[in-house]
Amino acid sequence: PTQPAGAGKRILLAKPRGYCAGVDRAVQTVEHALAHYGAPVYVRKQIVHNLHVVRALEERGAVFVEENAEVPEGATVVFSAHGVAPEVHEQAAARGLRTIDATCPLVTKVHHEARRFAKDDYDILLIGHDGHEEVIGTSGEAPEHITLVDGPESVAAVEVRDPDKVVWLSQTTLSVDETMETVDALRQRFPKLQAPPSDDICYATQNRQAAVKKIAPEADLFLIVGSGNSSNSVRMVEVASAAGARAAHLVENAAAIDPAWLDGVATIGLSSGASVPEILVSEVVGWLGEHGYDGITEVSHTEERLTFALPQELRRELRARA
Ligand code: F3S
Repeated sequence: PTQPAGAGKRILLAKPRGYCAGVDRAVQTVEHALAHYGAPVYVRKQIVHNLHVVRALEERGAVFVEENAEVPEGATVVFSAHGVAPEVHEQAAARGLRTIDATCPLVTKVHHEARRFAKDDYDILLIGHDGHEEVIGTSGEAPEHITLVDGPESVAAVEVRDPDKVVWLSQTTLSVDETMETVDALRQRFPKLQAPPSDDICYATQNRQAAVKKIAPEADLFLIVGSGNSSNSVRMVEVASAAGARAAHLVENAAAIDPAWLDGVATIGLSSGASVPEILVSEVVGWLGEHGYDGITEVSHTEERLTFALPQELRRELRARA
């Protein structure tokens, strides 16, 4: 008997995927600020690393800038989910800006750890990607105590003052497995290396990677929806490949999928980074459906229930105006 066109072509949809609690809070922060103060509301850096989100907020009156100096004196500026160095707060105060800090509380936690270990005069080895905003922000808490370690290859060059007083911390959105490789390599060099008091790689990053790993061995192709500057999204592509997906690609949206990737592909794994709205995933599912992939099974690693309250300076303002 002839088989229907889509026979055997299926999508395995990872859960959890998409928005984490920190991104949801940061986007809502800008939306509430726009509703209450009116446009324009300035946002320093991309509020979250997703083009679609940034464009949608721009249309509603958010103005994205690189630095405080571009914000008119006395205006309102929102700091992005990735966190800022203390000097950014100081510059804002000097310009008389009203600030709303949308730094993810799980990034703030790492800042606290950095301050605490710096106060105790530790050498802090911060595992992260050179130039990423989060790393710049965290390093700014204690520049003279923090050394960046960008992956296992950079371990050999690390120098510390006292090998008995060393701790590692990390960016929140790294590959869990690669970070452990880096830590193992560091520990070979510094056997007394201390670990962070609690996981720095956040729950959302860990859960998204675990869900991808569950699907990857069955996937002929793995698509991760996300922007190229989104660290956690890029890591998900790497994790998919390392866990056995035959091919894996990062796509900004459905329009970015190359139909040639579908040649000989029966099973497609699909997920999205922590800064990606679900609408973009739905569009990819729709596009794949048109190409014969109409069987969808959700593969769940875990249920996420965490939410974060809006920044307190914003909550206070909203209460005062209510
Ligand atoms: Fe926060 Fe992790 Fe999301 S650090 S912004 S919960 S990816």
